[in-house]
Amino acid sequence: MAADIGLIGLGTMGAALALNIAEKGFDIAVFNRTTSVTEKFVADAGDLGSRITPCETLEALVAALKTPRAIILMVPAGAPVDEMIDHLLPLLDTDDLIIDCGNANFHDTVRRAAAAAERGSPYLGVGVSGGEEGARHGPAIMGGGPKEAWDRVAPIFKAIAARFGSSPCADWMGPDGAGHFVKTVHNGIEYADMEMIAEVYGIMRDGLGMTPLQVADVFDRWNGGPLKSYLIEITGMVSRAIDPKTGQPMLDVIKDSAGQKGTGRWTAIEALMLGAPATAIEAAVAARNLSSRVSERAEGARIFDLPAKPVPAEGMIDRLEAALLAGKIACYAQGFGLLAAASKEYGWSLPMGGIARVWRAGCIIRSAMLDDMATAMEGGEVTNLMFAPQFADRLKRSETGLREVVSAGALARIPTPALAAALGYFDTMHTARGTANMLQAQRDFFGAHGFERVDTPGAHHGPWGGHEA
Ligand code: 6PG
Repeated sequence: MAADIGLIGLGTMGAALALNIAEKGFDIAVFNRTTSVTEKFVADAGDLGSRITPCETLEALVAALKTPRAIILMVPAGAPVDEMIDHLLPLLDTDDLIIDCGNANFHDTVRRAAAAAERGSPYLGVGVSGGEEGARHGPAIMGGGPKEAWDRVAPIFKAIAARFGSSPCADWMGPDGAGHFVKTVHNGIEYADMEMIAEVYGIMRDGLGMTPLQVADVFDRWNGGPLKSYLIEITGMVSRAIDPKTGQPMLDVIKDSAGQKGTGRWTAIEALMLGAPATAIEAAVAARNLSSRVSERAEGARIFDLPAKPVPAEGMIDRLEAALLAGKIACYAQGFGLLAAASKEYGWSLPMGGIARVWRAGCIIRSAMLDDMATAMEGGEVTNLMFAPQFADRLKRSETGLREVVSAGALARIPTPALAAALGYFDTMHTARGTANMLQAQRDFFGAHGFERVDTPGAHHGPWGGHEA
């Protein structure tokens, strides 16, 4: 019997997704360039193997599928996707659908979707979040491309997606690159969420002298409150873990140099290009970059000899919780601000509340708070998530904590760049008259760029007579 869908690329994520699809009752044909991987995959699939057709060639894969065909690509982002599309095209009919479920740069997806449209063919760029576990048992799925093409495969994506209550965390985000853009911003927020947690851990470890097990206890407790989320939960778990080799806490034997595949950086780049500041995300990307300069930091430590100092312990754990809460709200406000800017720029009409709904389960940034964000953004036009009444209330209660943690960190020489960026953003956004009047005066002084006055419309120049550059 012909298979419902095909999948190319049986790496960790592809294999997990294929098993998930088979488990939900769909017949799937799979192909991997290295045939032995395909053979092992089917051999390990157990009972699900009966729903899986292993294919040794792309021709065999194409022949195994129901028409019009739908084929998921789970190959590494970038050139491998273009190469695979080039291999597939001669084998496919015009109405066959290619679906890129990798972490593609959305600009690539826009280009590939346009090329497909020129051929008269559909193309979907679909963001899938949740790591291996999510792909296997229920990821969050962000679809982008022609709506009719999404509707063709939506039953499969909705069946395999995570569920929040009874609602599947899979939806169409908009045309061409919308799905991959939303996934990119998800990852940018993921970077900031993780970095702010790491900064709070830094205060606990270096400012309060807490052990990993003490840290674990605090995160476990926080996971029962307003911070409840997957990342807080796993932070408790990794803090509790013991290294089987040395018997030391796992955290103490891991090098403090972070990897990254690029999605956080893309988010920061797009934010800058769109003029939609995502400073907490930018700080998180920079923090990862700085973390990898291990020997340079060691040299700095030698030259300055400024070790961390203790922070005042009294009430600090509660302040740290408040700081994470406030930082998180500011960071999500930036993420949604970026999504709104892209939506406008690219004419996508992104569903803001719908995005929050899809992120409620399955994905890495899933949290209790996302349900409230969905409600806030579906209740009417929101200028800025921080201003939605229930988030404004939470910020009013938690901003002092954020302020105290950032200042305690600064005084104790413990870096908190993402928390500080979130605080700077919050402070800027509640300041009606900022200091850009100074910038405008300077610009006019050296470049005659002109400025607007507070009292008279139109462009004006200052009385700098004779002093201009
Ligand atoms: C997800 C994750 C996933 C992955 C990223 C981040 O949503 O499932 O974001 O896409 O973990 O590749 O990786 P880096 O931290 O290496 O950039």
